[in-house]
Amino acid sequence: VTVAATAMALSLSATAGFAQCDDGEMVIKFSHVTNTDRHPKGLAASLLQERVNEEMNGKACMEVYPNSTLYNDDQVLEAMLQGDVQMAAPSLSKFEAFTKQFRIFDLPFMFKSIEAVDAFQNSETGQAMKESMARRGLMGLEFWHNGMKQFSANKPLVEPGDAAGLKFRVQPSDVLVAQMKALDASPQPMAFSEVYGALQTGVVDGQENTWSNIYGQKFFEVQDGSTETNHGVLDYLVVTSVDWLDSLDAETRDQLLTILSEVSNERNAAVGQVDMEARQAILDAGGEIRELTAEQRQAWVDAMKPVWAEFEADVGADNIAAAQEINA
Ligand code: LMR
Repeated sequence: VTVAATAMALSLSATAGFAQCDDGEMVIKFSHVTNTDRHPKGLAASLLQERVNEEMNGKACMEVYPNSTLYNDDQVLEAMLQGDVQMAAPSLSKFEAFTKQFRIFDLPFMFKSIEAVDAFQNSETGQAMKESMARRGLMGLEFWHNGMKQFSANKPLVEPGDAAGLKFRVQPSDVLVAQMKALDASPQPMAFSEVYGALQTGVVDGQENTWSNIYGQKFFEVQDGSTETNHGVLDYLVVTSVDWLDSLDAETRDQLLTILSEVSNERNAAVGQVDMEARQAILDAGGEIRELTAEQRQAWVDAMKPVWAEFEADVGADNIAAAQEINA
């Protein structure tokens, strides 16, 4: 290692806030895009790092890079296939290039709550989805929850017609593009790290996200307000490359996957609390949250639900039926 590379590694580790890995330890880089505090993914990744570094000390050392400091979601999966990063937890909307199966999670009003999403993911169909990208070199390990999505914009959104003509940032997902078109809005796919600036400068007028992201990225500061639509779900898949996972000896792999499974169960069970705390934090900071009457919300359902038909072939009519059964 050159002196310059060592200096760079040292300064990187200092800014990322992790302990220096010891010689001989396998380094596991975990890259993600959100903040760490009051955030479902940030908290889960930090707990995973803490437990791996304690319980696998001497064998493995995890370095978590939050806030898009290492990669954006549109780069991280390619970097993983190159072996430059070992773990990440992109949202399910970010796997379009690898599988169309996850499109069911982006369909508006498909799941009534995160509990329904949890039940679907834990069904046989949901569990099989984790392996749907194996042929493409990626292995899903665990689903991590975030929460239900809300709309925000630079003007009040009460009726679906209020969104017409506005530019909305969306994650890079064809379903989300179609969803915004169903509202006669203009969808603009964009990396998460660019959204605050785009809202602030008026490059886009609005966006959709969970309370923890609206709070964590301070979107509420540069929006008129948020509307509590709960119209969709934002969840994550913890992934590695098949090659990397296969390269681990059985004992190391089992220990890592056991820790990951325990961390996932613990943090997924706490996600409702984190979501509500972020919602409250927005209000405490002076952000506006508009609630809809049942009738007003139904108008959004009527406007957006026709999108299902466009993607039925990708996600399977039987899977849609199974999701609806869980909602009932
Ligand atoms: C987004 O791009 O809005 C989210 O997927 C970010 C995240 O990881 O929660």
